[in-house]
Amino acid sequence: MSNIKISVAKGDGIGPEIMDAVIGIFDAAQVPLQYEFIDMGKSIYDKGFGTGMTEDAKNSVETNGILFKGPMETPKGKGVKSINVTARKTWSTFANRRHFRSLEGVNTVFSKAGIPIDLTIVRENIEDTYGGIEHMLTQDVALCRRFITRPGSLQVHKFAFEMARKEGFKKVTCAHKANIMKLTDGLFLETFYEVAKDYPEITANDIIVDDLAMKLVAYPQTFEVVVLTNLQGDIMSDLCAGLVGGLGFAPSANIGENISIFEAVHGTAPDIMGKNIANPTSLLLSGLMMLRHLGIMDKANLIENALLYTLSQGAHTGDFGDKSKPSLNTTDFANTIIANLGKDPENNKARETNSTSTFHLPTRPNNQKVMFTQREAGINESIVGADLFVEFNSTADLIAPIVQKHLNENFKLIMISNRGTQVWPTGSVFTECVDQYRVRIETLNGYEANTAEIYELAGKISKDILVTSVELLRKFGDKPGYSLAQGQ
Ligand code: NAI
Repeated sequence: MSNIKISVAKGDGIGPEIMDAVIGIFDAAQVPLQYEFIDMGKSIYDKGFGTGMTEDAKNSVETNGILFKGPMETPKGKGVKSINVTARKTWSTFANRRHFRSLEGVNTVFSKAGIPIDLTIVRENIEDTYGGIEHMLTQDVALCRRFITRPGSLQVHKFAFEMARKEGFKKVTCAHKANIMKLTDGLFLETFYEVAKDYPEITANDIIVDDLAMKLVAYPQTFEVVVLTNLQGDIMSDLCAGLVGGLGFAPSANIGENISIFEAVHGTAPDIMGKNIANPTSLLLSGLMMLRHLGIMDKANLIENALLYTLSQGAHTGDFGDKSKPSLNTTDFANTIIANLGKDPENNKARETNSTSTFHLPTRPNNQKVMFTQREAGINESIVGADLFVEFNSTADLIAPIVQKHLNENFKLIMISNRGTQVWPTGSVFTECVDQYRVRIETLNGYEANTAEIYELAGKISKDILVTSVELLRKFGDKPGYSLAQGQ
């Protein structure tokens, strides 16, 4: 096999120490990779590259299609986006895959109870509140927009089911909060079952995310693959890291159509940098996910078994393991794994899969891809009203007449809500309000509005009361594209 070229960014803090350790293990195992080292991270950001990477680094990743990266520090301060999140989003790595497995030698509550954990979390990696689209609507009210899209959800669900099919998982569970967020999480759940139909051999079920949190702690062994939206997935995957011994044992793969990024879950650990005591296991496990992604299965199994053997013998860095045994530094821990190449642990060997690689070099598109799903023929899309968000520091009954005086015969004021709870025409005097109301106006007698008249109306109302934003109420066929207020 000829060597596959990958881009490697050692990162900040302990990044270079753990990356050198992992590459040392790969070299000893004769992994057929060629490394192109690139400049990314805080030091590059400090040199004035706002994205935290040089143009050469960007070209390298976009040519090789694989970035193996150490942790990178996010410069502190307003307006600075995380280099890690920017990389994942810029290169459309839509699925974040994390594997959590009990490791012999890494003591946890579950290992002591004899309960083995082996579960995979697939987290949508681009959308949700991670768009970071936030506004202060008034001095008191901040808004974060949460985007869940049909194409984005389909991509991540297809990835989860394809992975399950290729690697022999029997069950995929979608976790969500569709009981509350009926449109956003509802779309995520709906697309999950749409995709599941193409994989009849795999059991597909769903669970509300808070129930998942409880069950992961009570019976983690009952889950195989769990697919979640971005923020819920972020939280649940750290919970899972805790189940198997902490972030030092949690690998992460960010998978995209053309480019994939493999990295440790933990950060730059500035408190221990330069001391050669960091634990390289998380980055090594991420590297093994990368080898399997590239189809280098034999070397991945060889190294994983050497790691599992090493851990089962009680070798450990300072952050875990039996404290009565002296800990190894990063270099010695890596050298012990190298010395154990070819040895297998007695129990729980590396999971062999028959999967073949689907990796291909990036095909550079001429333009950015715009994804949209096929529209159902004959569906009428109409505007049936608007939600006007207004700043007002008194009660809703005073808003109603101000709005009503601007409405013509085609429109009616339906309700006013505050923080999502209806406060007009009916509501409870106990509902505490802030200085930001939503005013819902709907059309009457099947009238279809146009955007111009909605904005004209908002403009007129704005003369009396500040309209901070407008959201159209759209209908797609019979289906309303908006939710009801609590109590409506
Ligand atoms: P952290 O994960 O760097 O450290 C938390 C604690 O875990 C520290 O006590 C640290 O010493 C320990 N630790 C972490 N990795 C370890 C390892 N491999 N071996 C032994 N001990 C380890 O989290 P923190 O302090 O919140 O973040 C530090 C920096 O890392 C921040 O700038 C943050 O933005 C960045 N970060 C980068 C990530 C990435 O590149 N994907 C992910 C998370 C944080």
